[in-house]
Amino acid sequence: MRTAVSLFTGCGGSDAGIINAGFNILMANDILPYAKDTYLANHPETDYVLGSVSKIETFPSSDLLVGCYPCQGFSQGGVRAANRTINYLYLDFARALNVIKPRAFIVENVSGMVRSNYRHLLEDQIKVFTEAGYKVKYKVLNAADYGVAQERKRIFIVGIRNDYDIEYTFPTPTHGTELNPYRTIEDAILDLPEWPEGEFYDLDFHWYYMSRDRRRDWKEVSKTIVSNPRHMPLHPLSPTMTKLGDDKWAFTTETRARRFSYREASRLQGFANDFVFPETKNASLNMKYKVVGNAVPPPLFEAVAKALPNIWD
Ligand SMILES: C[S@@+](CC[C@H](N)C(=O)[O-])C[C@H]1O[C@@H](n2cnc3c(N)ncnc32)[C@H](O)[C@@H]1O
Repeated sequence: MRTAVSLFTGCGGSDAGIINAGFNILMANDILPYAKDTYLANHPETDYVLGSVSKIETFPSSDLLVGCYPCQGFSQGGVRAANRTINYLYLDFARALNVIKPRAFIVENVSGMVRSNYRHLLEDQIKVFTEAGYKVKYKVLNAADYGVAQERKRIFIVGIRNDYDIEYTFPTPTHGTELNPYRTIEDAILDLPEWPEGEFYDLDFHWYYMSRDRRRDWKEVSKTIVSNPRHMPLHPLSPTMTKLGDDKWAFTTETRARRFSYREASRLQGFANDFVFPETKNASLNMKYKVVGNAVPPPLFEAVAKALPNIWD
């Protein structure tokens, strides 16, 4: 069977995608305890190393290396600062790449990396991966185009080792046509309870939340699922919102409004319906939202992995 090593694994969104694409994950790693708990509750067979990637000295040899280093520095949701050390974790990914020398690698990150003030970081990633001996391609993809009920634009960087004289081609969208329309919120969560008390963040809608329209209808694709529950989009049973002025929106009725629950968020990310959130000592509502919002939608990662050429024999 084809093998993979996974870094910055989180609760395993990207890994669920490559497992579906036919890979066996030999090793996973993350620094966040609840990410490990969740991953192992769903994939108990994987050797999941908890701790900073910078402390890992040996990696098993594998066909594929995947990693989605953190994105606080580039993210629209996070504090942006192009020189933060967190922005340089790709160098640990490059270190693993140089040790393992897999046949191919896949990286995912926020699309903000293509913006001009971060461009030098993207260019440096391309440079170090190229110097490691790979033909590197990158592209921004929208998860909705690959059957995920959510608008989520992310950059993918894919490399194929130079000794295979093949270039990677990104998968063409599978959804959004008359024949195969986008998956909607309704498709993803209609069967779930309307008021799953304790499973959604129920604190106030602060001024920043009310500075834009946070709601989409049942028959639409969801807005981007984020890791901070305060910023989670509204469930469609919430009242619609109307614009009052610059950066000022209000609910149109007094009916109770709520954000998506972490379980609904996991469905909207494309995780399996039976994905488990274990009640370990590290569990909390915020942690559940965090691991889900950080994840790569499994169907999107699966599409990218399945588009790799046949370099496995
Ligand atoms: C964008 S998330 C990855 C999500 C994951 N690929 C998924 O699909 O579920 C980035 C991850 O990097 C982890 N991380 C941050 N610093 C790290 C470090 N120094 N070593 C290992 N993991 C780290 C974070 O805890 C977070 O889970």
